[in-house]
Amino acid sequence: MSAADAFDLRVLPAAAWASVVADAFIERLRARPRLRVCLPTGDTPAPLYAELAARDALAPDGAYAQATVVLLDEWLGLPPGDPARCDVRLRRELLDRLAPPPRFVEIDVDASDDALAALAHDRAARGLDLALLGLGMNGHVGFNEPGSLPGDPTRVVRLARSSREAAIARYGAVQAPTGGITVGLARLLEAEEAWLLVTGAHKAPVLRRALRSPEGPDCPASYLRRHPRLTVFADEAAGSEL
Ligand code: GLP
Repeated sequence: MSAADAFDLRVLPAAAWASVVADAFIERLRARPRLRVCLPTGDTPAPLYAELAARDALAPDGAYAQATVVLLDEWLGLPPGDPARCDVRLRRELLDRLAPPPRFVEIDVDASDDALAALAHDRAARGLDLALLGLGMNGHVGFNEPGSLPGDPTRVVRLARSSREAAIARYGAVQAPTGGITVGLARLLEAEEAWLLVTGAHKAPVLRRALRSPEGPDCPASYLRRHPRLTVFADEAAGSEL
C-alpha cells in the first residue's frame, strides 16, 4: 500500500448495500442541491437506483430538481431506444422515476460525428462533484478498457470483446455495439469525489487486483487509488478477497 492508497473502504452486508449507498448519496445531494454527478449503468447500481427511486416516490421533496446527471458511458452502434442503451437504462431505472428529474446530459451517439460527440461530453464531464463508477470484470471503469491511462480524456473507444458480448448477453441489446464513448479517467480523477461500487463474488478477484496490486493499465480501475477522495462501497462477497 502506498501513501496514495488513502481510499475509504466500506465492506457491507449485501442486504444493506443499496440503502447505505443511497444514504450517502442523498446526504451529498442535500449538502449541494446543484450536485453535478456522473452516473454509470449496469447491474451493480440497479439496486441503488431502485432504492433512490423508491425513496423519492415515498417522500417527494424535489431533491433532484437542481441537480445535473452526466452519463458515464454509452455504446456506439445501438439504435436509439435499444433497451441496452445506457441512456435508456438510466432513464428507466432512475431518472424517469424522480419528480422532477434532474437535468440529464447524455452522450450524443446518434450524431454523425462520434469524435465531436466525445469532445462535447468531455466538456460536460469537467467539474464533477461526484463520480459513481462500476467495475468491469476486466478492470474497466466506464469504458476505460485495459490499456487506458490516467490522463485519458472522454473519447471514442474500441471495446473489449467481453464488453461487446455483455451488451447482448447481459443487457439485452438487439445487436452488437461497434464501440463506445466514455468519460475518461482524467475527468474521473478530477471529480471532487469518486465512489467505486462493487457487488458479487464474481467481482472479488478484480476488486482485489484494483485495490491491492500495483496500479497499471491492465486494470484501469487501479488508477482510481490516485484519487484524493475515493470511497469503495463493496458488498461482503465482492470484498471477500481483500
Ligand atoms: C459496463 C459499463 C460500465 C459498468 C461495468 C460493470 O460494461 N461500461 O460502466 O460499470 O461494465 O457492469 P455491471 O455493473 O453490469 O457488472
